[in-house]
Amino acid sequence: MFFLAQGILLENLIFSVLWFTIRERKGGMIKYVRVFYHSGEEKLRISSPYPQHPWLAAIAVFLQEAVLINSNDVNGKILYEDDSHQFIWLGADEVEEQGVVQTNQYLIISGGRGTLVDPGGIHLFSRVVGLVSKYIDLDNIDNIFFSHQDPDVSSGIALWLGVTRATVYISQLWLRFIPHFGIVDQARIKGIEGLRGSLTLSGGASLKLIPAHFLHSTGCYSFYDPLSKVLFTSDIGAAVFPARGQYLFVDDFKEHLAIMEPFHKRYMTSNKVIKKWISRLAGLDIKMIAPQHGALFDGENVQKFFDWFSRLECGVDIIDSIYGE
Ligand SMILES: [Fe+2]
Ligand SMILES: [Fe+2]
Repeated sequence: MFFLAQGILLENLIFSVLWFTIRERKGGMIKYVRVFYHSGEEKLRISSPYPQHPWLAAIAVFLQEAVLINSNDVNGKILYEDDSHQFIWLGADEVEEQGVVQTNQYLIISGGRGTLVDPGGIHLFSRVVGLVSKYIDLDNIDNIFFSHQDPDVSSGIALWLGVTRATVYISQLWLRFIPHFGIVDQARIKGIEGLRGSLTLSGGASLKLIPAHFLHSTGCYSFYDPLSKVLFTSDIGAAVFPARGQYLFVDDFKEHLAIMEPFHKRYMTSNKVIKKWISRLAGLDIKMIAPQHGALFDGENVQKFFDWFSRLECGVDIIDSIYGE
């Protein structure tokens, strides 16, 4: 008993030292370690390469090997669900790859049929296909939506066409370009413009397609799902996390700006285009913003995002500074 008590004391002492050291290094994110330690079990547990070993998990954060996502969510989270419709975020890499931008993939299941949204690059394929299979048989995937042509969105196209019977939808500007990602059956790739503003899903539901051209790609689309009230925005709303700093939902909007604003200033074309895109969202009841990179926005952060984005000067607005003049 004595040795056990000593052990607990020693453990607390070591943890306290570790706690203060990590807090210095990682600022606000340390709260996840604290919740984990005091609650003992699930809740906000760190996802790390060592999920069964809390001490190794804490050390992994210290060594910046862990992702700060709730361990229950690492393998996907249902963002919205009713009797026949689900909007699902398809999880995170438990151990991030250095130098590879983090991406979000989504799956909509409606009437038992699936639509994949920006399923991502080749190197993510094995993880994402495994997660998708958890929710739906691959044979039941009808549509693959590519918001634009970038490799982090669509370079896995040949693999996805190989394991599903789905039709791919992408702006017609890119129809002749994406076959360069691999040998694909071009009869299964269609221009979003041909859909006339909405992608019909099984069971009568449909996604409202919203042009997002020049934000950033010249041929780019976001969409609104009226059932879940989720707005998928593609690269709009993206943030670039620091190494091992990923979180699922924006908590402090002001803090989040530090990893979101620089991306938009450089990758988005101009404030005129931003205002054009926002004007197309008029009248939509948006409960959640789901971007292709970074964290999701819900609650009051939805309006905070639009307030910030509508005022942002970027791209050609600040072209002199981009050219270093
Ligand atoms: Fe992009
Ligand atoms: Fe992207």
